[in-house]
Amino acid sequence: MPKIKELECSRCKATVSAETPQTVCLKCAGSFYVRYDFSGFRGLEHRGRISEETPGASPGMWRYRSVLPEVQPVTLGEGWTPMLRSKRYPNVVVKEEGANPTGSFKARGLALAVTMAKHYELEKLAVPSAGNAAGALAAYAAAAGIEANIFMPKDVPFANYVEAKMYGAKVTLVDGLISDCGRIVAERKEKEGWFDISTLKEPFRIEGKKTMGYELVEQLGWEYPDAVFYPTGGGVGLIGMWKAFAEMEELGWVKPGKRPKMIAVQSSGCAPIVRAFEEHASASKMWENAATFAAGLRVPKPYGDYIMLEILKESAGVALALPDSLILASLQDWAKNEGIFLSPEGATATAAYDHLLKTGFLKPADRVVLFNTGAGLKYTDVTAEAAGILRN
Ligand SMILES: Cc1ncc(COP(=O)(O)O)c(C=O)c1O
Ligand SMILES: [Zn+2]
Repeated sequence: MPKIKELECSRCKATVSAETPQTVCLKCAGSFYVRYDFSGFRGLEHRGRISEETPGASPGMWRYRSVLPEVQPVTLGEGWTPMLRSKRYPNVVVKEEGANPTGSFKARGLALAVTMAKHYELEKLAVPSAGNAAGALAAYAAAAGIEANIFMPKDVPFANYVEAKMYGAKVTLVDGLISDCGRIVAERKEKEGWFDISTLKEPFRIEGKKTMGYELVEQLGWEYPDAVFYPTGGGVGLIGMWKAFAEMEELGWVKPGKRPKMIAVQSSGCAPIVRAFEEHASASKMWENAATFAAGLRVPKPYGDYIMLEILKESAGVALALPDSLILASLQDWAKNEGIFLSPEGATATAAYDHLLKTGFLKPADRVVLFNTGAGLKYTDVTAEAAGILRN
């Protein structure tokens, strides 16, 4: 495992040491990137060792420990999720993140954040969550013996509430959105002695989520796809994958120059990144009255909006929003015709793919990865309501 060299601000490039826990840049409040000394890990020879050297039966995302912090992992088997080839679109694969512990990709980021919290001997963590981050934090905190304080909207998918309670977290349901939950955490954290692991307000959730970028490239034979569709709320995965691509190029593990187009997909009921992208703005504005059954996408003002917008531009990608009716139709389509029960967030990606084929932005020959960020089975209440499914 490499040594962490420093943390670098994503906005003003100021650096700090990672010897003690850090939140955001003291100078400009930008999110930090973890920077390593990769000198011992460059070249194809080291890339080849990823699959060879892995101890234990299921290391999951820790197969990439040569690009992760040198600490003892708190793990529940997260990562190394399947890539499912579509039956109907030969150049499309679905990255099935529902296979993670707690049924969503949030497991990766929270596994790393809790691993580091344990390393730093933190005792109390707090998080505002749209739902799945809460479940994941609760699970990893339980595994690590750390207290988890969770604030989430009172209408989260029921599974998120139940799992957080079962893992023993201290859960508060809030009459509001994740932004209101974030405000409560910010107001109370000092007095309560909580360490805030909100999206992009600590450096390590990005590190966990970056493993999705390493994985999809390795699973495609160390080749980039042409496009990656990412259901976007706070955007940690998008930011993490872009960091992974830059690192892989620095390491000499992939050829530079042909990174995928990054496609940020949102629901028309909450689309701050799409609006900012269309207005060529460098940051988003608060989305009023956010509402969508894709619960994880109800993030009205993402903290890392400026980073996402840069990545979309740099990758020649696009941000687009679909109405819930089309998201639901795509969810039903993929369940019936492919046997894949997507989360509403994942179905936002499949709906967006159909749309971009129609507009000609993508061609059927383009190799595409669609992220199903969570298991459809976590959403039986919200999906049943959206689809009008009743038991009698
Ligand atoms: C299933 C699912 N997909 C996508 C997202 C959005 O993730 P991010 O905040 O990394 O953009 C969430 C966030 O809660 C989620 O739960
Ligand atoms: Zn800064």
